Amino acid sequence: MIRVVPSILSADLTRLGEQVREAVAAGADRIQVDVMDGHFVPNLTFGPGVVEAVRRAAPSIPIEAHLMVERPEQFVRDFAAAGADYVLVQVESTYSLYRTVHAIAEAGSRPGLVLNPATPVETLRELVPYVEMVNVMTVEPGFGGQRFIATSPEKIRRVRELAPRLEIEVDGGIDEHTAPLVAEAGATLLVAGSSVFGHPGGVEAGIRALRESVAG
Ligand code: DX5
Repeated sequence: MIRVVPSILSADLTRLGEQVREAVAAGADRIQVDVMDGHFVPNLTFGPGVVEAVRRAAPSIPIEAHLMVERPEQFVRDFAAAGADYVLVQVESTYSLYRTVHAIAEAGSRPGLVLNPATPVETLRELVPYVEMVNVMTVEPGFGGQRFIATSPEKIRRVRELAPRLEIEVDGGIDEHTAPLVAEAGATLLVAGSSVFGHPGGVEAGIRALRESVAG
C-alpha cells in the first residue's frame, strides 16, 4: 500500500500549523521535516523546534526528521526528544553510521537510511538488518521543486532486490507523473513537497492526485 508523506520544505511557513493540519485532514500518512545544515547540502532549514511545532499542530501523525546534515550523530537525540517518530540519516554524512543508527533506536525513534543519487545501493547492505526503511533520493537534496532523476526507478528495483523486507521511500520530484514510475519499481512511501503544498488546487487536491496516480 503506497503512503504519502508531505514534506514541509514547500509549505507556507507563515502558516505551518494550518498546512500540516490540512495535510493530515487530506489523509497524509506521515509528515517529513527536511532538516538541512548548509554544509551537507547548500541550504539551511529547520531544527528540533520545528519538529516540536509540527507535533503540537498534529499530535497523532507520525513525523520523519530527514537529517541532511554533517555528523547527524550530534542531533539524533534532540530530534527524537522533539517528537520525531523516524530519524533518517544520509549514509554519506557520518563516519559512524552503525553507531548512529543504533543511537536513533536507543533514543526511542525508528532509524532510516537515505541514499543520495550517486551513492551505490551496495552501501546499505551491512545495515539492512537494523533499519525498517530506506529513502532513495530522486533528486540531489537541498531544495524543493527539482526535476526527478529519470534513472531512479532502476535504482529502486535494485534496493528492492537487496532488501525485500524494507519500506522504500522516495524523495524529490514526486508528482502524479513520476509516482507511478517509482511505485511500479517498488517504492512504498512517497515524499512530496511542491506537488502537495504547491498544488494549484490546494493540499487536498495534491494528495488526491498522488494517490489516484498510483491507484490503478
Ligand atoms: C531535499 C528535500 C526535497 C523535498 C521534496 O531536496 O527534502 O526532496 O523533501 O521536494 P519536492 O517534492 O518539491 O521535490
